[in-house]
Amino acid sequence: MTVQIKTSHLIERAAKHLRGLEDLARSSPLPPASGEAAAAQAAPVSPATSLVPPRLIEFATLEQAGMIPWGRKRERIAEEFRLVQSQVLRQLDAAAKPGSQSSALTNLVMITSSRPNEGKSFVSLNLAASIAHFGARPVLLVDADAKHTSLSHHLDLMEAPGLLDFGAGLVPRAEEIIVPTRLETLSVLPIGGPGHTRADLAAKVAIATAVERLVRRFAPAVIVLDAPPCLSTSDPSALAPLAGQTVFVVEAERTRRSEVESALDLIAACPAITLLLNKSQLTTHSTFGAYYY
Ligand SMILES: Nc1ncnc2c1ncn2[C@@H]1O[C@H](COP(=O)(O)OP(=O)(O)OP(=O)(O)O)[C@@H](O)[C@H]1O
Ligand SMILES: [Mg+2]
Repeated sequence: MTVQIKTSHLIERAAKHLRGLEDLARSSPLPPASGEAAAAQAAPVSPATSLVPPRLIEFATLEQAGMIPWGRKRERIAEEFRLVQSQVLRQLDAAAKPGSQSSALTNLVMITSSRPNEGKSFVSLNLAASIAHFGARPVLLVDADAKHTSLSHHLDLMEAPGLLDFGAGLVPRAEEIIVPTRLETLSVLPIGGPGHTRADLAAKVAIATAVERLVRRFAPAVIVLDAPPCLSTSDPSALAPLAGQTVFVVEAERTRRSEVESALDLIAACPAITLLLNKSQLTTHSTFGAYYY
């Protein structure tokens, strides 16, 4: 069914609300640490702090970070994410069928965009939560954006070990640094690098290699990757042939068509790309802002 949208797109309205909560999230202390520090193995750089993950991410923290609460009423924003989630799962199932030609890692879903600040982390969190909840599959949400780190920041995980530490060989087993959430099927791997200059550590780590190891280790879990923008780093381009599918976020009325085209050229090796129109001021009929590319 199509819906006439007379006001701002609901994703936009929800995000406005969530922006107001960001200050709250920033002022929250980190959850208490637990467990033993992981030992560094043949590390090219040495850890300056003990690599101890936080215990558990509560629902309140997920919501402060931008997760749309779906339990209270059927909000359009949550419905929209359910539609994208269904599309992603359909693609995932199609690629997993015997006879599928793709050599990509079916379970790897990359979220990217042309430029910073288009809503990648917001989409990553909600898509991951939606797949975990409605798709009833284990999902690992990974922050792979070492420059903007918005997901780790929103989840209060800036001091936690994560992808960079795993990629640099500072933790032998990713299991030790994955943070569970109150939503049982959803776990998070932050960007990591506490105690280091993150940019220095990121320069030493091959993100695509680290992600590939993660995906193989945690199959059949769905890995939702909050990746950097295509026009800022080469990571999305390196990840594109690995990812079973990409959700490409386009900020409506801001991103230039030429930028979108250049960015899509860089990730053309990905077998399935879905465009997701974000922050749109739609006044015409629309079912949802997601289109196959
Ligand atoms: N649909 C939306 N409408 C309004 N604001 C939004 C929408 N989506 C995201 N935002 C807001 O825009 C800002 C950037 O969103 P987000 O952090 O998800 O983008 P990003 O692409 O991950 O940015 P970065 O490249 O810096 O990591 C946040 O303040 C977020 O709340
Ligand atoms: Mg981000």
